[in-house]
Amino acid sequence: MKHLAVLTSGGDAPGMNAAIRAVVRTAIHKGVRVSGIGHGYQGLIEDDLRPLGARSVANVIQRGGTILRTARCEPFLTGEGRARAAATLRRHGVEGLIVIGGDGTYRGASALHEEHGVPVIGVPGTIDNDIYGTDVSIGFNTAINTALDAVDKLRDTAASHNRMFLAEVMGRHSGHIALNVGVAGGAEAILIPERPVDVEAVVDLLTAAERRGKTSSVVVVAEGAVPGGAVALQREIEERAGYEMRTVILGHVQRGGSPSTRDRVLASRLGSMAVEGLVSGRSGEMVGVDKRGNVFVPLADVVRQQKPIDEQLVELATILAI
Ligand code: F6P
Repeated sequence: MKHLAVLTSGGDAPGMNAAIRAVVRTAIHKGVRVSGIGHGYQGLIEDDLRPLGARSVANVIQRGGTILRTARCEPFLTGEGRARAAATLRRHGVEGLIVIGGDGTYRGASALHEEHGVPVIGVPGTIDNDIYGTDVSIGFNTAINTALDAVDKLRDTAASHNRMFLAEVMGRHSGHIALNVGVAGGAEAILIPERPVDVEAVVDLLTAAERRGKTSSVVVVAEGAVPGGAVALQREIEERAGYEMRTVILGHVQRGGSPSTRDRVLASRLGSMAVEGLVSGRSGEMVGVDKRGNVFVPLADVVRQQKPIDEQLVELATILAI
C-alpha cells in the first residue's frame, strides 16, 4: 500500500485529532502517503482531499474538534453518492480509507467496502460510546468528565437552595453518558433511552427521597430518554407533584474541549492500529478495545448489533441512590 486517506464523520469528539495524528505518523513510519479528506463523506463526494505530512498534525493532539472538519452526509446514504466517493478515491490512487466516527459512519463505510471493494478500516470516535464491538470510543471519557464537572457544580446550588435539578446530557439513542455521569455524580435518578421512563415513578422516587431526609436532588436525563427531553419532563413532573425544578441542558459543551489523557492514548493506539490493519491487508473491520486488548471487529457486526447498556451499573445506581 502506497497511499491511504483518512476522514472524520458524524459528531465531533475530543481525541479525533489525536487519532488523525496517529494515522498520519504511523503511515509515514511505514512509508505510506496520507491524504486528509475534508468534511467527512461530503469531502469524498466533492473531491476535497489534501496531503497530510508529519508537520500537518503537529500541535493537534491536545485540541478538541477535528482539523479535517466533519459532517453528517445525506448523499452518502445513496448508491449514487457512494459511487462518486469511490470514483474520487480511484482518481487519486487511494488504496485504503480510514474513517473515524460514530454509528452512522460505519453504515457508510460498510456499504463502500461491500459495493466498491474499497479497503476500509473504522476507528470508533463518538462521545456517545454506543458502538458495538469496543468497550470504549474516542471522546467518551472527556465528555463524561465535562458533564460530571457540570453536575458537581449543580449539586452545590441544589444543596444550597434545597432544589431539584434535571441535568440533560447527550445521547439521543443511548444512555452510556447518562449512566456513567449519573453514578459518578451520585444522581437520585438516571433516565436513559434504553429503559422506559415512568414519570409517576420518578415523582414517587423524588418524594420518597425527600421523606428520607434528602433536601436536594439531581436527576440525570439522557436527551433521548423522554420525548421533548428534560424540558418536557420538568413540566410533567412539576404538574404532577407541584415541585419547582430547574433544568440544565449541557448540550454540545460535552462534545468540545481538550481530550483527556485516556482519550489521547486511546486515539493514538486505535489510529495507529487502523494503519497497521490496512497495510497488512485487513478491510471491512473496525478497531476497538475490550478485555482481550486491541481487537478488530467486522463492520457488518458493528452496524447490525447494538451495544448493550451496563445492567449492573443500572442496578448499582439504584442501590446507591437511597
Ligand atoms: O452522536 C453524538 C451526539 O452528540 C449525540 O449525543 C447527540 O444526540 C447528537 O450527536 C447531536 O447531533 P447534532 O450535533 O448533529 O445536533
